[in-house]
Amino acid sequence: MNRTARVPLSSILFMVFALLCSPACTVSQNTGSTDSDPDPVQPQPAQPVDPFEQNASMQRGINLGNALEAPSEGEWGMTIREEFIQLIKDAGFDAVRIPVRWNAHAMTSSPYTIDPDFFERVDDVIEWVLERDLMIVLNIHHYNALMKDPGAHRQRFFSLWRQIAEHYHDAPNSLLFETLNEPHGELTADLWNEYLREAIGVIRESNPYRTLVIGTAPWGGFGGITDLSLPDDDRNIITTVHYYNPFHFTHQGASWVGEEADKWLGTTWTGTPEQKEQVNSDFDKVLSWAEEHNRPVHLGEFGAYSAAPMKSRELWTEYIRKSAEKRDFSWSYWEFGAGFGIYDRDQRHWRTGLLKALIPESPELESR
Ligand code: BGC
Repeated sequence: MNRTARVPLSSILFMVFALLCSPACTVSQNTGSTDSDPDPVQPQPAQPVDPFEQNASMQRGINLGNALEAPSEGEWGMTIREEFIQLIKDAGFDAVRIPVRWNAHAMTSSPYTIDPDFFERVDDVIEWVLERDLMIVLNIHHYNALMKDPGAHRQRFFSLWRQIAEHYHDAPNSLLFETLNEPHGELTADLWNEYLREAIGVIRESNPYRTLVIGTAPWGGFGGITDLSLPDDDRNIITTVHYYNPFHFTHQGASWVGEEADKWLGTTWTGTPEQKEQVNSDFDKVLSWAEEHNRPVHLGEFGAYSAAPMKSRELWTEYIRKSAEKRDFSWSYWEFGAGFGIYDRDQRHWRTGLLKALIPESPELESR
């Protein structure tokens, strides 16, 4: 692609915003400029947005996993293509979560500059998604060195957010920032509560009204929610948890877990009363925290690996999805087209049982 001929992202984001914008936001934009004012209108909304409304708009999402969060895109067999975004749109999803390993594409010493070519690649994907009127959760994913030595990576982590936030500051409200995927290791729950505050401060310098998504330590687990401390005076935040329980069912045969994962092969999930009760009790913990703190919840990852029996995967996926929706949690299935994938990229078709478990009324099911 001839990069020099490209329209800058900010212009495209603005055009998309202008197309999607309601008459109410036109008024607020117009108040910002006059005929004699040569400055471009700033699409950054003039009013704080309601995170509960934002969460409702991204009810059904999917992770574009194994692509931009691999050490380099393609290394894990998945390269995002525009047609995938169209497939996701046509299937009836509202949102995509885009995991990104920014730390693999930035200088390791100050000023920690993010590679401009990598920014352009992420811009491309974001443009494809915004053009299709889907919501986006953009995160920092697999920053493993930060988990091992948070102190050594503190400034770099905030610098990455400063750059990302400034780069996308004029994007529409439908772009959300998720501060960090699955804090763990030395980045303990207490330390994470400190880091997340500082990250919010950095992002708010350029994005006062951007909706943020903030998860729990360790590993995004629902159990960590009671240790999460968000700043009371910032209400434009959606809390996120991940759910992969029972782990020996969802991660059977998953090589990255270790050898024991092979011993779990053949584990089923049939929706017994005990199995359902466990899900309900886990989700109710999240709900009671959310109600107490008046925060919306996004179930940012859930999924069962392809080595699990398909019928069980479908039953589990449907039950988790329904359990989330019953509590007004928005959700993003892990993931589109790789090891947990609901789309078979080789055969170029949806795994209809899984798609049905997620979106029973999907137009893609009607045509079959
Ligand atoms: C990780 C993925 C992994 C998935 C399920 C995600 O948070 O980023 O690499 O496949 O969890 O284990």
